[in-house]
Amino acid sequence: MKEVRDEGIQNVTKYEQRPPLTKEFCEEAIAFILHKIDQNLETFTYKYPAPASESLVYPALDNVEWTSSFWTGMLWLAYEMTGDEKYRKVAEIQQESYKKRVDERIHTGTHDLGFLYTLSSVAAFKLTKNEAAKETGIKAADLLMERYFEKAGIIQAWGGTDDPENGGRMIIDCCMNLPLLYWASEVTGDPKYHQAAYSHVKQAEKYIIREDASSYHTFFMDIYTGKPKFGQTVQGYSDNSCWARGQAWGIYGFPLSYKYTGEYGLIELAQKVANYFINRLPDDSIAYWDLIFTSGEEERDSSSAAIAACGLLELSKYLPLTNNNKRLYENAAMHIVQSLAQHYTSMNNPESNGVLLHAVYAKPHNKGVDECNIWGDYYYFEALVRLVKDWDLFW
Ligand code: GLY
Repeated sequence: MKEVRDEGIQNVTKYEQRPPLTKEFCEEAIAFILHKIDQNLETFTYKYPAPASESLVYPALDNVEWTSSFWTGMLWLAYEMTGDEKYRKVAEIQQESYKKRVDERIHTGTHDLGFLYTLSSVAAFKLTKNEAAKETGIKAADLLMERYFEKAGIIQAWGGTDDPENGGRMIIDCCMNLPLLYWASEVTGDPKYHQAAYSHVKQAEKYIIREDASSYHTFFMDIYTGKPKFGQTVQGYSDNSCWARGQAWGIYGFPLSYKYTGEYGLIELAQKVANYFINRLPDDSIAYWDLIFTSGEEERDSSSAAIAACGLLELSKYLPLTNNNKRLYENAAMHIVQSLAQHYTSMNNPESNGVLLHAVYAKPHNKGVDECNIWGDYYYFEALVRLVKDWDLFW
């Protein structure tokens, strides 16, 4: 087994400082998000924001993208924070379209079923004990299991097995989709979902994380022999660079598997992955879209910052008080959230229906570059919720 190196945190002086991020500051930032949600509520009751904005405005789509649930998840967070039934009502209307999507297999050939159903059906079940939503969540977990290949021990990211471009491709992002499987084992008592999720996270640890603790975006396995093949990027700068959002998915994803498995090695790994990310942040703590860039004119990806902030807060929870990183990660998350709140929101762009500006969806494909993206908005909201309350995860 390869040894993954730990760079440690290089700029300890910066992260020893706790930013003056008061509860009032976070509540004000949340109030702005709620204001945006209120403005969008009618448009996005039966439709969903597209993954990325166009000229800072999200087009309205049917429930067909991998990202619909980030909007539904924002509604559940809004309901949790305010108790206002109007958010719950819309999130419950949307349950119908998630049920239809899974029943009729509408764009379900993706590992993103985890994002889609954790933030919609599982959240509905956890917050309101909605039994129909629970059944829908289990059906989604069953569909996700169809993408699990025993021999390779992985969940395939996209497409069918016969797809020459995607057969045997696993993806770092999928670490965020495993909680749907762990949850399905908890509610059904059937260990098969948990076993598949655990196998996938161990393969991600082994093949997607490189020796220097950076990550490949995707990695191909031979699903018939189980042999590893090679790493490849789709959204990063190059196959050997480190796509910022992929690294952020890892910072958050490995601790989530720890939450369900208790395997502390995943926390040790997550610290190395987090340190690599933190060490490549520019002064304002918001990563460039690929960590190969640490200064200059390339675009930032505010969404990777928001995901990393949530991941750092989750990771920090599992570290003992004696681990110095515990406080450094909390502080790093606060630096990120403060920077997002002060310099990256659409506060001065009233024409925008997004929350966070300056995100990048897929620069190599010139898609959603320097736009809002809906998962960035969701994770920014989640990070703020985490900072004002002891939050029970949907994940
Ligand atoms: N999971 C796809 C992305 O992060 O763009």
